[in-house]
Amino acid sequence: MTQAATFEQLWSAIADIGRDPTTGGYRRFAWTEADLRMREWFSGECASRGLDLIEDRMGNQWAWWGDPDSSPTGGVATGSHLDSVPDGGAFDGPLGVVSALLAIDRLRSDGFTPQRPIGVVNFVDEEGARFGVSCAGSRVITGVLSPDRARALRDADGITMADAMRAARRPPEQLGPDPEALGRIGSFIELHVEQGRGLVELGRAIAVGNRIWPHGRWRIEIPGEANHAGTTMLSDRRDAVIGCARAVLAARTAAEAHGSLATIGKINIQPGGVNAIASSATAWLDARAADEPALRATVAQIENEAGGSGAVVTEESWTPQTAFDDALVSRLASLLDGAPVMGTGAGHDAGILANAGVPVAMIFVRNPTGVSHSPAEWAEPEDCLAGVAALATVLADLAGAQQ
Ligand code: HGY
Ligand code: MN
Ligand code: MN
Repeated sequence: MTQAATFEQLWSAIADIGRDPTTGGYRRFAWTEADLRMREWFSGECASRGLDLIEDRMGNQWAWWGDPDSSPTGGVATGSHLDSVPDGGAFDGPLGVVSALLAIDRLRSDGFTPQRPIGVVNFVDEEGARFGVSCAGSRVITGVLSPDRARALRDADGITMADAMRAARRPPEQLGPDPEALGRIGSFIELHVEQGRGLVELGRAIAVGNRIWPHGRWRIEIPGEANHAGTTMLSDRRDAVIGCARAVLAARTAAEAHGSLATIGKINIQPGGVNAIASSATAWLDARAADEPALRATVAQIENEAGGSGAVVTEESWTPQTAFDDALVSRLASLLDGAPVMGTGAGHDAGILANAGVPVAMIFVRNPTGVSHSPAEWAEPEDCLAGVAALATVLADLAGAQQ
């Protein structure tokens, strides 16, 4: 079978998992039925390739070609995640996992024998769509997210991560830093669909990723007072939604002022009656900037302006300015015919690993729409295959010699 046909086969096997037929978007949230089906698909594909699957203390799935403990400097790991944002696209995450499996197929059909083990990972809960903290899988094993806090995170229905894991037959007591799993990663290459139009503008199919903007998530709790919509004078109201609207506008103004990005994409209004003044509102802010001072200034300005409505702002996660490994980035760029090198405002498990000291680089694949976190996310089949070829070249180079 050609690589194009295998790609199509793998892609269509997961195409309907967790897909909302109305919007065409994916809802593959951590430890839900859809996520478990994706995990099962992944373990099946690994088993059919004779890769040995190991789950780390967070339940991240690592499939190894070769004994992962055989190399004193660790193996070469690649892969990405299989969960999604609400109504997410097909490519963010799965493209990295499918490409990793195909890169292994390609190396094998070329007769390549790795001198170092090659691993493919499916990270749990990269998007944080269910429990609020992005990259929870890599944050827990690197110790950035404490097991107590992770277990206590709740979804919109009040279900804790601990209970969600139990329901998925995973003991939450096992959560924690996993130096053994990390010790197996000598280097990590994450392939990902580009979440912008940089490659379209350059007229190139592939780029090498070298850095991630600092970013974070904040919870904004706005107080109010419940009352009747038809009988309460305007002057007597304490309407939480007015405070929430101020926070939304403050986010936009602050981002414009500091050349950053600030988004409120999720709001919970209580009690949520059409004819009731809101007693409270919770809004979640996602903010990112090219540097940490601009990001901190953005959030401080929003906090200051929202504070006028009595809002309380709490940081839920923070990822610092992240630079990937310079030598690895240059090596990839030269292996890939001088591919352009670019940074991104999107977060990735690669960034969490890089900040934990793992040598990391990324490969981006052109996205003609430039859209991501939406069903409009796209990559042309020939660009996906160029991504597989690029990844295979890089893996062959990194795993081709004992280092
Ligand atoms: O939210 C993000 O940056 C990513 O896509 N996980
Ligand atoms: Mn994403
Ligand atoms: Mn992603």
